[in-house]
Amino acid sequence: MKDTINITQVKESRIGSVDFDNIPFGKILSDHMFIADFKDGEWQDLRIVPVENLSLNPANMALHYGQSIFEGMKASINSEGVPLLFRPEMHAKRMNASASRMCMPTIPEEMFIRAVTEIVKLEKNWIPTKVGSALYIRPFMFAMDEFIGVAPSATFRFIILTLPVGPYYNKPVKLLADERFVRAAKGGVGEAKTAGNYAASMLPMKMARENGYDQILWLDARYRKFLQEVGTMNIFFVIDGKVVTPLTDGAILKGITRDSIITLLGDMGYEVDIRPITIDELIDAYDAGMLQEVFGSGTAAVISNVSTIKYKDKVIELDESNFVLSQMIKEKINLLRNGTIEDPYGWVVPIEESVSVS
Ligand code: COI
Repeated sequence: MKDTINITQVKESRIGSVDFDNIPFGKILSDHMFIADFKDGEWQDLRIVPVENLSLNPANMALHYGQSIFEGMKASINSEGVPLLFRPEMHAKRMNASASRMCMPTIPEEMFIRAVTEIVKLEKNWIPTKVGSALYIRPFMFAMDEFIGVAPSATFRFIILTLPVGPYYNKPVKLLADERFVRAAKGGVGEAKTAGNYAASMLPMKMARENGYDQILWLDARYRKFLQEVGTMNIFFVIDGKVVTPLTDGAILKGITRDSIITLLGDMGYEVDIRPITIDELIDAYDAGMLQEVFGSGTAAVISNVSTIKYKDKVIELDESNFVLSQMIKEKINLLRNGTIEDPYGWVVPIEESVSVS
């Protein structure tokens, strides 16, 4: 069968060398990775193998033209030791939306979820149990054709890595809204989770860091006024008790954590205003004493509070004692994700032992 996942296990696990009480984000890979190749118009050779270096031809098109997309997901483990995935089908759908935009083949949702399930099942012992930690799952796909010319590749590789991770941000973040840079314009690739979007954030992020800020707060490409997202997460504002988040208008990533927060807040009785919002409105709200909280959301970042926003000469300083709603929603998401509270949404998908490799 073409869609059988063949498994080759490591001879000796590296897990003993990991300090699970002190896990840096993004640096520790688990023992195995999933790989599939797209050739002759279909996905084939599905396999789980020990993590090892890839061998790529220097004319590999992904290296030259960036036909490369990824997802970020997390697995937790409940008190009975059952691994739990969070909204895997949403990630499969978003991966495919990115693939379509970047002229890459889609991955059957069933194959995507089965691959994630099998790798997490095999790497179950790598799932950290500490609150705020998780097994980060990084599915990604890139062009494999060898050609120095701009054209869609005909062959691709799909890989899933898993990494035990702690929090992405350890403290509230400081943001710089810098109108010299833009992340995406409507009609561009801002909605796709493609590598180049993150490459584009690196110079502004470096410059923000040199000035004592952690990240860029992106403004829209046309007016340089409308707030879009942060380099690593979507953004929410609490103004006079109401939650506002920018409308995803084609230039903003459709965050799955963002979507979960909107649903949870709505069910908790909070009004969430999904609409365009400008930096001027934010400053006015701050000056009127009505800006209570700003927080980012993302799979990696979960919910990360913002302590400071700078725009031109204006500095907005947020008072940590007001970070009430963000803390409440963060706790709720963490409890849902690790199975401590009931999930009425069908978001949390347990990986039962009975799921077999087929
Ligand atoms: C995620 O939140 O999973 C992302 O992909 C963002 C990345 C910057 C870590």
